[in-house]
Amino acid sequence: MPSKSQDKSFTILGIETSCDETAAAVMRGHAPGPGEILSNIVASQAGAHAPYGGVVPEIASRAHLEILDGVIERALDEAKITARDIDGVAATAGPGLIGGVMVGLTTAKGVALGLGKPLIAVNHLMGHALTARLTEGTAFPFLLLLVSGGHCQLLGVGGLNDFRLYGSTIDDAVGEAFDKVAKLLGLAYPGGPEVEKLAAKGNPRAFDLPRPLVSGHNVRRNADFSFSGLKTAVRLLVERQPVKVEDVCASFQAAVIAILTDRTQTAMRMFEKDFPQSAARHLVVAGGVAANRAIAAALSGLCARENYRLAVPPPALCTDNAAMIAWAGLEKLAADGGDGLGTSPRARWPLASLV
Ligand code: KG4
Ligand code: ZN
Repeated sequence: MPSKSQDKSFTILGIETSCDETAAAVMRGHAPGPGEILSNIVASQAGAHAPYGGVVPEIASRAHLEILDGVIERALDEAKITARDIDGVAATAGPGLIGGVMVGLTTAKGVALGLGKPLIAVNHLMGHALTARLTEGTAFPFLLLLVSGGHCQLLGVGGLNDFRLYGSTIDDAVGEAFDKVAKLLGLAYPGGPEVEKLAAKGNPRAFDLPRPLVSGHNVRRNADFSFSGLKTAVRLLVERQPVKVEDVCASFQAAVIAILTDRTQTAMRMFEKDFPQSAARHLVVAGGVAANRAIAAALSGLCARENYRLAVPPPALCTDNAAMIAWAGLEKLAADGGDGLGTSPRARWPLASLV
């Protein structure tokens, strides 16, 4: 039963520091959404990590520590609210790079204690998962394709505490595959947007790259993914002969699209079994890779064929941000109340374990 407090509008300060974005935001609203973003500040550290082709944890946690207070101040200023208007302070408590998570969660505890407001410890993946509720008020249940730099999962989402895992990657996450392919092609970090840009100018049929675990060559009946074989095939290809970078990007992206659409179609059947009564069928795509227009277009085609409604949040809310953390905190606070100040940060925190 939804509690009465779910009808009440909350104003939440959100803090996100689990990877290389230092972010703070203020959200207002109530479940099921949409919510109102009063401010959404994201300070990217991408420039600091670019020379290394990936996020360096020590650099990340030091940068979070240096700039987080200022980012929070800006978020509160832009939202034009006073401390009294805040109903709670939400922070990512995991999963992620532990140093960064500690900085964000500890800061949130300090702010919550200082204001005498509840702390809400948010699972970063839940933030991504609920973004379509923040933006368009998508009702439960929905099928979720979560595609980011650290995660690649298909889940049935029946409610705040009901996540059912249909498939996940057995090796690399899809964003990680984009980043690794970009690195071996000498492109800038983060690689996803660079690969997408060049892919638009290349021939997706130039190279026949493997599509691991897609139906037909897949003995697994679940919706698991695999990307490391694809990444290795790209490496061998570029080592063997001079190639047009645009064609490699286009062929790689075409293989990723084939894998994502095939696995999502498999997960649709699992979702329909789990939620047979569900009148509206929704596919929600979340995580940084959802910012890729070609992937979104392919998923839109799949949804049209399967009679699903597709929800893809705008790119700025697909990549890491604190608005999604504030929103998840808002829903959690309304449903379950806040968390104790003794809550510990977690490097690992699978969504499906929330069941
Ligand atoms: O969700 P996110 O911001 O951070 C994580 O929690 O991982 O996702 C970042 C990932 C990176 O791997 C980045 O290369 C990828 O999302 N990404 C993209 C695009 N924009 C970001 N991948 C493909 N195409 C894009 N346009
Ligand atoms: Zn993320």
